[in-house]
Amino acid sequence: MRVLSGIQPTGRPHWGNFFGAIRQYISLQEEHDGFYFIADLHALTTVRDASALRQNTLDAALDLLALGLDPQRATLFVQSRVPEVSELCWLLMTGAGMGLLERCHAYKEKKAKGLPADAGLFTYPVLMSADILAYDAELVPVGQDQVQHVEVCRDLAGSFNHTFGDVFKLPKAQVMTDAAKVPGTDGQKMSKSYDNTLPLFGDEKQIRKMIMRIVTDSRPMEEPKVPEDDHLFQLYRLVAPPADVEAMAEKYRRGGFGYGEVKKGVADASEAFFGAARQRRRELEQNLDYVTQVLDQGAEKARGEAAAVLLRAQKACGLR
Ligand code: ADP
Ligand code: TRP
Repeated sequence: MRVLSGIQPTGRPHWGNFFGAIRQYISLQEEHDGFYFIADLHALTTVRDASALRQNTLDAALDLLALGLDPQRATLFVQSRVPEVSELCWLLMTGAGMGLLERCHAYKEKKAKGLPADAGLFTYPVLMSADILAYDAELVPVGQDQVQHVEVCRDLAGSFNHTFGDVFKLPKAQVMTDAAKVPGTDGQKMSKSYDNTLPLFGDEKQIRKMIMRIVTDSRPMEEPKVPEDDHLFQLYRLVAPPADVEAMAEKYRRGGFGYGEVKKGVADASEAFFGAARQRRRELEQNLDYVTQVLDQGAEKARGEAAAVLLRAQKACGLR
């Protein structure tokens, strides 16, 4: 089955991104034909600095490869390297009702806050639809926040097919149900907008310091606690081996431990958990030719597929 997902290169990835999204995309490469791209055209709606966008795009590729995306199994490419998608976007744009797009949350929320929106943000779901339809994707793994956009894609594809014949395959969203569950350093949902993230990559000492500064409650040490209710434990559980998690849970239930000890546990476990990926990323940084080659090959393959779909759509609507 063709599985496709896009990741916006808008900043350094954090634990929430990994455990809530990236990990699932990558595991799907084992059994499916994975197409993964870095959505630089979408990022352009928010990143308005050329060198930042260029750097973020390369960083995203390094991150994904370091985290285990395997170019032998899956296709990795940069969205803008497939211009056919932008052309397909126009074809879809002509049938996209204003009302449908006005209901989409990214635009609606910005407008509600009184922030200026542009046509790029307004038509963001149409470009996302073109991303999906251009590769005949069947399954689209996304976080809860993107499900609405996949629904828009199905609407646009369905109405195009209705008007012009059977051109597009209708995709299904696969919601990653454990998304939105990773807590940040202050206990709220981890998000770059709350400034409470733990990065996946970076200086280990710095990351350790961030872990040691995680906010904890002030209940007395002796008091037994419910491990699952504590965000520090929730973080530990993500990175520690199951036997250690059970031993830690037991300490919580018994009481008489200090949060400092748990934090140290989180830091040690996270270094072990992400150690290989961090090492791999350092190696990739020294081997950018390889990364460029992967992205070139990915783009070439993706373009071939998108060109065929575009041609099908052009013929159907009378452009050829
Ligand atoms: P941020 O909230 O930091 O801006 P994004 O919206 O860029 O994060 O997140 C991209 C994807 O990462 C989301 O679609 C979601 O699936 C996942 N994600 C982000 N934060 C979390 C979190 N705290 N817990 C679980 N998943 C998350
Ligand atoms: N909009 C998605 C996000 O912000 C990224 C994206 C762009 C995407 N095109 C896509 C995801 C196509 C899935 C399919 O997370």
